[in-house]
Amino acid sequence: MTAADTHPADPSRPRRDILITSALPYANGPIHIGHLVEYIQTDIWARFQKLRGHNCWYVCADDAHGTPIMLKARAEGITPEELIQRVATEHRADFDAFRVGFDNYHSTHSEENRDCATLIYERNRDGGHIAKRTIEQAYDPVENMFLPDRFIKGECPNCGAADQYGDNCEVCGASYSPAELKNPRSAVSGAVPEQRQSDHYFFKLADFEDMLKDWTRGGGLQAQVANKLDEWFEAGLKEWDISRDAPYFGFEIPDHPGKFFYVWLDAPIGYMASFRNLCESERGRAAGLDFDAFWGADSQAELYHFIGKDIIYFHALFWPAMLHGAGFRTPSAIFAHGFLTVDGQKMSKSRGTFIKARTYLDHLNPEYLRYYFAAKLGPGVDDIDLSLEDFQARVNADLVGKVVNIASRSAGFISKRFDGRLAAALPEPGLFDEFVVGGQSVAEAYERREFSRAVREIMALADRANRYIDEQAPWVVAKQAGQDDRLQGICTQGLNLFRLLIGWLKPILPGTAEAAEQFLRIDPLTWADLDRPLLDHDIAKFKPLMTRIDPKQIEAMLEASKEDLAARQPATPVSAGPVGAGKGGEGAGRHLAKDPIAETIDFDTFAKLDLRIARIAKAAPVEGADKLLELTLDLGGETRNVFAGISKAYDPATLEGRLTVMVANLAPRKMRFGLSEGMVLAAGPGGTDLFILSPDTGAEPGMKVK
Ligand code: MSP
Ligand code: ZN
Repeated sequence: MTAADTHPADPSRPRRDILITSALPYANGPIHIGHLVEYIQTDIWARFQKLRGHNCWYVCADDAHGTPIMLKARAEGITPEELIQRVATEHRADFDAFRVGFDNYHSTHSEENRDCATLIYERNRDGGHIAKRTIEQAYDPVENMFLPDRFIKGECPNCGAADQYGDNCEVCGASYSPAELKNPRSAVSGAVPEQRQSDHYFFKLADFEDMLKDWTRGGGLQAQVANKLDEWFEAGLKEWDISRDAPYFGFEIPDHPGKFFYVWLDAPIGYMASFRNLCESERGRAAGLDFDAFWGADSQAELYHFIGKDIIYFHALFWPAMLHGAGFRTPSAIFAHGFLTVDGQKMSKSRGTFIKARTYLDHLNPEYLRYYFAAKLGPGVDDIDLSLEDFQARVNADLVGKVVNIASRSAGFISKRFDGRLAAALPEPGLFDEFVVGGQSVAEAYERREFSRAVREIMALADRANRYIDEQAPWVVAKQAGQDDRLQGICTQGLNLFRLLIGWLKPILPGTAEAAEQFLRIDPLTWADLDRPLLDHDIAKFKPLMTRIDPKQIEAMLEASKEDLAARQPATPVSAGPVGAGKGGEGAGRHLAKDPIAETIDFDTFAKLDLRIARIAKAAPVEGADKLLELTLDLGGETRNVFAGISKAYDPATLEGRLTVMVANLAPRKMRFGLSEGMVLAAGPGGTDLFILSPDTGAEPGMKVK
């Protein structure tokens, strides 16, 4: 037992009570490999805690409410209940296939959730934390409904780009309110929206500022998340609009007929509702699960939410405040992760990298993806990249080439020469003990969510095990007379090292571990079993536990993902807007992934671009904007001031004197820090992975790029 293994608040309690959640996927679209980063990450951690013997429970649910779900059902001519039922079945099947081992999977559209949401709302209301205000909002006079920001489209007030959503422009990045859009249209009916008044209910977040600050300092947050919170505290905590007008698919607010809880109010409460549903199930009752022991204000249990970085605000501000205001405990920690890119770019439908869980499963073994994500995941919020070539190489080299290979090199002799029986003693117990010690460090890495480190250490030990077999050369010993004991010993040693590796990999590779347990004819491994070797024991005949990835499988998966798109398109009503785009949010401030190479332009449009070679005369950081550099660009006689979001990727000193390419006729844009007179072209997913374009030598400042 290591220090990391005891209760953080009370080291004398060795068996921890742990409740773990993943964010609830929207019930209007399929699970894709981006989602899977989160469900696989959470599942690995939950499986690890269970293997360690803790009282650990992992729950989730579908997020079933909101305008997009209501409209999607309408577009399909079914009820929202029918839609969420169908999607729930699909989600469960996908999660099962990826062996995401929820102890309970529920829905926010459930009686438990209605009860919990009502309770939390009423307690906050009675505590004086709910305010009523009249607001003005866009209204669709044809559909007779108020329109969320994401359901209004029009021209960007900043750059004039057509077909932009009501919250931000995907062309120039400006954010604005829907009232500022030019020529606004309802994305539902196409009608010109009107402004109408309505009473709304607001959660007074600022009431909880002190409590939230204490909670932030409690040590449960990742550094990047705590910094983000500090920024939000500095900007001031605003009241949060928690009500929506009918028609809306959700829960009616108890004392206000015709008003509904906004989907994001009852979504996190779905964690609670799913757990309550589990407590009341046969399994929960048999385990003596007690709701209050996990959620009561003085709960000693640990509560962890795994989420993506896009929904931190909801989980690190609103959620703990709502819980506290209603007399419940707050989360022990929030674990945020980054976003998935594929081959360095956002998932793209036209490239076939927007891969649904189901499409992946049609072509590849889910254990591969679990392994690859684990090998890439750390405890931070950095984005993670699925490089398809690296994926194939690593799975083949590590899992097939190293781990499974140890078993296949040892098992044949045990079957053929020793009737499947392992030796009674290890020839090198010291080597086994060395591995056992290595396992402690692997456990610490898992506990800290440093999965990539865990994988690295396991693979280093797999190398060590293969080296042992190389040195002992059982295939040579097998041919020598009178060496049977030695041969049996070597192979027993090899299989015992294999058993340790598989035990450590079990949180990541539950399916492979299960097959290995059958092969070794042992009970399901737990972490505690691993310090004793398996001796004098019959094993089954070895069957390959995993096969290599053939690049053709990956190609076929990409092709099929492109086909998904082609098959889907005609069925998607244009008016469905954000729903058709497959995203469930209705204004969480998120960007839809717009396809960068989907549309063509004619030559005249291209000719309007004035691209010029520019020399970076000066580059300097911008105070108060940690992503920006202020560039002074020399266009051969004219200088321009341009703010470029490249400071994470470039040290300004290294840029000075370099040539690059700029858009010289972009309308100047007033920014908080000054005027930006053009744009520098760069490629890449962003952050540290951004590359400015540099022309070959010979180019001169001011030359036109054609
Ligand atoms: N319904 C909300 C969450 C409510 S939790 C009380 C939601 N749903 S979602 O389906 O859009 O996303 C579910 C989870 O998957 C979120 O944590 C989100 O960050 C994560 N991901 C969705 N797309 C992702 C990637 N491309 N990459 C990594 N994680 C991603 O948000
Ligand atoms: Zn714009």
